[in-house]
Amino acid sequence: MLEANKKAAVKFGIDTDLIEEKTNTQRNIEVTTGKFLNQILCSDVKNILSLLPSNSVNLIITSPPYADKRKNVYNTIPANKYVEWFLSITNELKRILTNDGSFVLNIKEKADNGERHTYVLELILEMRKQGWLWVEEYIWHKKNCYPGKWPNRFRDAWERCLHFTKNRKFKMYQEAVMIPVGDWVEDRLKNLSETDKIRDNSKTKSGFGKNISNWLKRDKVYPTNVLHLATECSNKNHSATFPVALPSWFIKLLTEENDVVLDPFIGSGTTAVACLRLNRNFIGVEIKKEYCELAKERIQKESRTDLFSVIKL
Ligand SMILES: C[S@@+](CC[C@H](N)C(=O)[O-])C[C@H]1O[C@@H](n2cnc3c(N)ncnc32)[C@H](O)[C@@H]1O
Repeated sequence: MLEANKKAAVKFGIDTDLIEEKTNTQRNIEVTTGKFLNQILCSDVKNILSLLPSNSVNLIITSPPYADKRKNVYNTIPANKYVEWFLSITNELKRILTNDGSFVLNIKEKADNGERHTYVLELILEMRKQGWLWVEEYIWHKKNCYPGKWPNRFRDAWERCLHFTKNRKFKMYQEAVMIPVGDWVEDRLKNLSETDKIRDNSKTKSGFGKNISNWLKRDKVYPTNVLHLATECSNKNHSATFPVALPSWFIKLLTEENDVVLDPFIGSGTTAVACLRLNRNFIGVEIKKEYCELAKERIQKESRTDLFSVIKL
């Protein structure tokens, strides 16, 4: 832990002697003013990103303000200006992210005047031009979404989690998010056909065959790219939080212990809470003072007293 903390500190120009001294007694990382590890930085993200070192963050995960949403709560960007605004941020994020890191963007386009807006799709295309690889689109299915009806559609019950990287090879720990095989095994494997028992080579000759019986003796399987997570209503002081389980899932999948995770729109601090639970370092940026305070409260509640007891805002 000490060595790893020191390594992380070096990246951020933090005095490692300070870490040793603290670590010997309390295993703390003390962050001095202007240093960013395990802090919530209360500012417009555009003022902060240029201060962060290149290749220093292993995972960026965030849910930015969506275009034209919650105008009365925080400043939002109009949909027709969104791509331009966001591209200047992603340009910096690309510099800050390690070469084997990932950027997960939780976003959902609004419906406007009877059709879905295309700004998220346009953003993906522009980010690809900026040099990002669009590796995957995960769906966050909001399990507890209450029903609703509009004349031409139904209530939104899912959001996008877009996965971007800088390179085709990136850190990914699929075993960390395996799920119990559960009832599926009993139902699906009760009556195995002869084809199931041998490798069922793909009829398209793609080379992707399956041998269902391989899964018989396993108690865990890989998940799909649909995450079934309930929204959390317990966080009454911020209207647009994601559940801790959402950043946690990606943090487990895409980082190792002691890695650094950046959330440039951290709101109530959910990503920081996930990091504390999973022993990762965090950097959070939030423009609204009251949300910074909320994040600070949540972090302090979450922190074990022997860890991260010094968090300056
Ligand atoms: C969708 S919310 C994020 C919620 C967060 N995931 C959580 O669980 O609490 C977006 C946040 O971005 C903040 N924000 C908006 N514009 C910002 C900017 N330019 N710089 C930093 N934060 C900003 C908003 O105040 C809001 O709290």
